[in-house]
Amino acid sequence: MINLSMTRRSLLASGTAALILPRVALAAPTVLRAEPVVAQILPKGDGKTAMLGLNGKTPGPELRIKQGERLEVRFENHIGSDSALHWHGIRIDNAMDGVPGMTQNPVPDGGHFDYSFVAPDAGTFWYHSHSRSWEQVEQGLYGPLIVEESAPPKVDHDVTVVIDDWRLEEDGTLMGGFGNRHDFAHAGRLGNFARAVPSRNKVRRGDRLRLRLINTATARVFPVIVSGGAGKIIALDGMPLAAPRDINEIVLAPAQRMDLIVDVTEALRFDFPTREDPYELGRIEVEGENPNPITGDILALPAANVAAPDIPVHDLTLTMQGGAMGGRHTGEDIWALNGHSGLPDTPFARFKRGETARIRLINDTAFPHGMHLHGHHFFEETEGTLGDLRDTTLLNRGETRDFLCVFDNPGKWLLHCHMLEHQAAGMKTWVEVT
Ligand code: C2O
Ligand code: CU
Repeated sequence: MINLSMTRRSLLASGTAALILPRVALAAPTVLRAEPVVAQILPKGDGKTAMLGLNGKTPGPELRIKQGERLEVRFENHIGSDSALHWHGIRIDNAMDGVPGMTQNPVPDGGHFDYSFVAPDAGTFWYHSHSRSWEQVEQGLYGPLIVEESAPPKVDHDVTVVIDDWRLEEDGTLMGGFGNRHDFAHAGRLGNFARAVPSRNKVRRGDRLRLRLINTATARVFPVIVSGGAGKIIALDGMPLAAPRDINEIVLAPAQRMDLIVDVTEALRFDFPTREDPYELGRIEVEGENPNPITGDILALPAANVAAPDIPVHDLTLTMQGGAMGGRHTGEDIWALNGHSGLPDTPFARFKRGETARIRLINDTAFPHGMHLHGHHFFEETEGTLGDLRDTTLLNRGETRDFLCVFDNPGKWLLHCHMLEHQAAGMKTWVEVT
């Protein structure tokens, strides 16, 4: 008996060690230090901008892990006020979701918080402050989080393209006036200068690229025209499309992501269409020729392991209200959901783990809203047909959209507008999964 259990224990111990050792070696905690930084937002030669960043820059460092791996981040706050990091789109353990006052205490200036979580889905995600986010995200507290497939599609370069706008003075100074009532009641803080910044700015003609577009703006919906190559859309909000889709005009609401695979034919341009000439957001230059271009069809990525919706046991409606220009003001704040402004004491809905719910979103305001659910992805539904799997869905004024979600991640999860000024001015609620 004793021998057997000894043997078993030592077997177990050695087995565990063999499995865990390489992981431990890989997963040295990454330190993300939030601090004031000076950034070159305007073109080189023009004025610089005092902002907030992580590890000396904004956007913060691109974090990369493999699907199923654990990410360990020590977040150190040196910005002079409370903060916290949210891992947008990750179906995460609730305690790591980074929502001060709901899933953790705010991290005070000089304090730190250790985030540790497994990333169950491969795709394009991002992290950002969830503390006075309309200020801190606008000031630069965010960065890309890339979760790699175990066998990623073959490309020459994997390029992240961060799209954002800022409200700047001529000399590059970030304009003040955060939290002013006009921005809060209208479309949010829209910038007067916008850029799409690729993580690589030179490629060869004939290169096959994976482009990971992330809209990190606090409020602007970006239409983007990508020219200079031919390709397909392969994922939205970190979730693979069942079949790659043609690239027509791309629209990204705040926080939304899109993965493309593109074969380069000439300088790749990212343009914001306007009534006059398009506004160039950014470009990737072409130099030389790829002698061995990757050919072959652009295939679908392996499907994500998201539970398929069952017959809904909850049919719920969430009506967006308030704002300027004819929106009804409800409550003491500017925006409301179902007549309630700000985070209610009790959740909008409670679900038993694994239940499917249909939630009808009704935009009864004069502005677009990008509604984001924490901790889950959901299926947009059109006329009874399941559509894209997303974590943020854009509703233009007057629009209604149903989504179906299997609430299988226990905890307290925010459901809010990702126009961060709208979130701040009341457009938020939460659900609880037990
Ligand atoms: Cu990307 Cu609640 O946020
Ligand atoms: Cu909104």
